Amino acid sequence: MRKIKNKKLLGSLVVAGVLTALVYLAWPTASGSVAQTTSQQSSKTLTTESSSLNKQQYPVDTASSLWVVVNKGRQLPSIYAPADLVVPTVSLRLSASSSEMRVRADTARAIESMFASAKQEAVNLMLASGYRSYAAQESVYSGYVKTYGQAQADTFSARPGHSEHQTGLAADIEPLNRHCELDICFEATPEGQWLAVNAYQYGFIIRYQKAMQNMTGYQYEPWHIRFVGQALAAQLHTNNQTLEQFFNLPAITDYPAQSFELKI
Ligand code: DAL
Ligand code: ZN
Repeated sequence: MRKIKNKKLLGSLVVAGVLTALVYLAWPTASGSVAQTTSQQSSKTLTTESSSLNKQQYPVDTASSLWVVVNKGRQLPSIYAPADLVVPTVSLRLSASSSEMRVRADTARAIESMFASAKQEAVNLMLASGYRSYAAQESVYSGYVKTYGQAQADTFSARPGHSEHQTGLAADIEPLNRHCELDICFEATPEGQWLAVNAYQYGFIIRYQKAMQNMTGYQYEPWHIRFVGQALAAQLHTNNQTLEQFFNLPAITDYPAQSFELKI
């Protein structure tokens, strides 16, 4: 380091240094950059939250777990059905007596809360499909295979045992007026846009994201939400991550010869 011999010069440098430090400290307030300060604080909060989110809090291999990961390589036992299915008190596509209008209790409460908030903003949502048993999924999937062929059906419909709908934690959402029902154009409707922006605050993720087909194995489904709880939903939303990425599980786009069987 270069030595400073001139005492006067040294004194001026000290004063200049103190002034610079004061201006620097006062800058966010002086420049009125409240937003900058707030965003710095919230990103700090998020960093803290992300590091405190314990990935082992709920198992990913257990069918009844909040964080169970179901995909083309990870299969639910055919006999698995959640124990706490209820009909949420919201607008339903089918009669309340239809098995498909049920979801797990916590998912139902979150749906009710989310739909109520949407309604306050004049956004009217409807539950199109919730829980589907193994047998129900078999019937849905085989219908698509007959119409479109297996290769095409596999891009948008899960084989029995591989659907998140069997967990009771997934739901297909549509506008009350049924515009763009289970169609990609749902993303451009006010209801689809509201869901994309707000779902995470209620503990839901949009499971099959646009441009993530090479990771999820399915076409974009702006209507399919999956309940994972608020902390994880916020984390995945902020980081634009899939469940598989967060849990360091392989991305699965095709059915393997042998799937991993989840525990009950
Ligand atoms: N449409 C989604 C992939 C399902 O069938 O579960
Ligand atoms: Zn779905």
